[in-house]
Amino acid sequence: MAMLRFDDEGAKLTERLYASPDVVAQRDTVLARLAPRPGERVLDVGSGPGYLLESIARAVGASGAAHGLDPSGAMNELATARTRELPWVRLDEGEATALPYPNDAFDAAVSTQVYEYVPDVPAALAELRRVLRPGGRVLILDTDADSLVWHTADRARHRRILEAWDKHLAHPRLPRILPALLRRAGFRVTGHHVHPILNPELTPDSFSATQMHIIADFVPGHRGVTEADAEAWLADLRERADRGEYFYCLNRYLFTAESE
Ligand SMILES: C[S@@+](CC[C@H](N)C(=O)[O-])C[C@H]1O[C@@H](n2cnc3c(N)ncnc32)[C@H](O)[C@@H]1O
Repeated sequence: MAMLRFDDEGAKLTERLYASPDVVAQRDTVLARLAPRPGERVLDVGSGPGYLLESIARAVGASGAAHGLDPSGAMNELATARTRELPWVRLDEGEATALPYPNDAFDAAVSTQVYEYVPDVPAALAELRRVLRPGGRVLILDTDADSLVWHTADRARHRRILEAWDKHLAHPRLPRILPALLRRAGFRVTGHHVHPILNPELTPDSFSATQMHIIADFVPGHRGVTEADAEAWLADLRERADRGEYFYCLNRYLFTAESE
């Protein structure tokens, strides 16, 4: 499986994309729903560049603990730099399916845009439940690829590009089955929410302005897509913007649950 790579370049690109106002607003929603409290022990699975981990650490304070886990050394370097002044943050290199923590270690856990990359989601959820104390809270956010509305003139080419882009994930349509998987893993689902990323214009700092280049870099070689297809697709999107016809909307699905 040729998933997106979070090496030095991939990690820095993700860091830039996740600084966009669209993703800042998403993190605000996540933080408000997770509501970490002073003194709590919180785990961020797949903590990436560490933006959310930093906010969690500030919320739990020095009497609490904020742990981030990620298999990418490049991501962990960015997160370490971001949280250097918060000594109650700890970062570990590891996999969602083999969490390096004892049973009942955390009061709450969060994972945003991560389980869609993990081949064995039931194994990852079983691990999450093991490390949460009984009654512990969890928040998971992922994207469903079918929720994307993106205006292009050549819809057949657009469909091929998106089918090729699906290959960057293990599960491009995870949200629709996540509540059932959570229940099977021993969680009580307490909330379902949608957070849309809406770009009615192509502005340089919008989420889709960066995402379209990440997609165009990835898709050649998948599902018969060529570099020329990817370039023509980008040109089509730019032309929509020039004509005042740009439109992009993608849904993030957010689930809250408690360990039973
Ligand atoms: C799209 S980024 C999201 C980062 C962060 N959660 C956020 O929302 O800012 C996906 C992250 O998942 C991590 N990841 C991929 N596979 C993983 C796995 N099997 N276990 C844990 N993390 C994983 C990647 O290294 C990357 O940092």
